[in-house]
Amino acid sequence: MWVVRFPEAMISQRNTARGGVVDVGGQPYDAADPPVTDRAERRADLQLATHTWGDARGEHRCADGGGQTALFLATTATYAPTDCEVRSVRRQERLRMAKLIYTAIESLDGYVADEDGNFDWAAPDEEVHAFVNDLERPVGTYLYGRRMYETMVYWETAHTVADQPPVVRDFTEIWQAADKIVYSRTLERVSSAKTRIERAFDPEAVRQMKAAAGRDLTVGGPDLAAQAIKAGLVDEYHLFVMPIVVGGGKQSLPDNVQLKLELLDERRFGSGVVHLHYRTRR
Ligand SMILES: NC(=O)c1ccc[n+]([C@@H]2O[C@H](COP(=O)([O-])OP(=O)(O)OC[C@H]3O[C@@H](n4cnc5c(N)ncnc54)[C@H](OP(=O)(O)O)[C@@H]3O)[C@@H](O)[C@H]2O)c1
Repeated sequence: MWVVRFPEAMISQRNTARGGVVDVGGQPYDAADPPVTDRAERRADLQLATHTWGDARGEHRCADGGGQTALFLATTATYAPTDCEVRSVRRQERLRMAKLIYTAIESLDGYVADEDGNFDWAAPDEEVHAFVNDLERPVGTYLYGRRMYETMVYWETAHTVADQPPVVRDFTEIWQAADKIVYSRTLERVSSAKTRIERAFDPEAVRQMKAAAGRDLTVGGPDLAAQAIKAGLVDEYHLFVMPIVVGGGKQSLPDNVQLKLELLDERRFGSGVVHLHYRTRR
């Protein structure tokens, strides 16, 4: 177990001086963090951090204890860390944790496919495609519902199609390089490399994936994405709104969910497509 160890005098000083400014990596801590009053919760937070940091050693300067440096050491000591230290850990945790991103290309009325299952109107032109490529490039793992996987697996062999434009060749390479997890109770085998099947969607397993991953993850297919959204796992949304109304079909976002979002960015493309980038407010 990894916990924080300090001389006893320093501990009492820290534990009585609450609410000071915390400096982690030169930035103040997120004041929205609730105060931590429960000793067990503090220790659990540090164990979580330890789990996700592996054997790394963090160093945080906590001004509420007089500006000393808190060193996180491998030890079995039972020190209860201060609010400052816990916030430092939480901030580090948030900074290093991979994001889960939901991207959808949808109609203005919010459908990814019309009532006949048709979505040829969602095909991106070259300008949008290049933008999507840059969004997908840093992603390490795609989580797919089986139906979305069956559409996307085209990219496993797209390089065999002659005379593809550069933007398509680029996406082919990006897609093939990523790991894929397909959620399905029926699919017997996958037809792409770097792909495995999961028989159930376990939010805790995804949470652990986010904590352990070095690169962001995406979730695709509205049915699967709805489960991730409802479990509070989706950190960011990239919605591409096509200039079309289709009147019904497969919704990009689920019913009976309320989300508070912060608009991070927006972009208008020549074709009339609008890209909206949101972050979930926690
Ligand atoms: N607008 C676009 O750019 C675009 C692009 C591609 C596709 N599409 C459309 O997107 C739609 C995808 O629809 P969708 O929401 O039904 O698809 P989805 O989320 O991709 O896949 C649903 C399937 O995922 C599996 N699944 C979901 N939850 C699971 C769980 N908890 N445990 C195990 N397996 C689970 C099930 O597969 P099993 O049935 O095998 O168990 C389920 O039938 C389609 O209509 C497609 O045409 C649109």
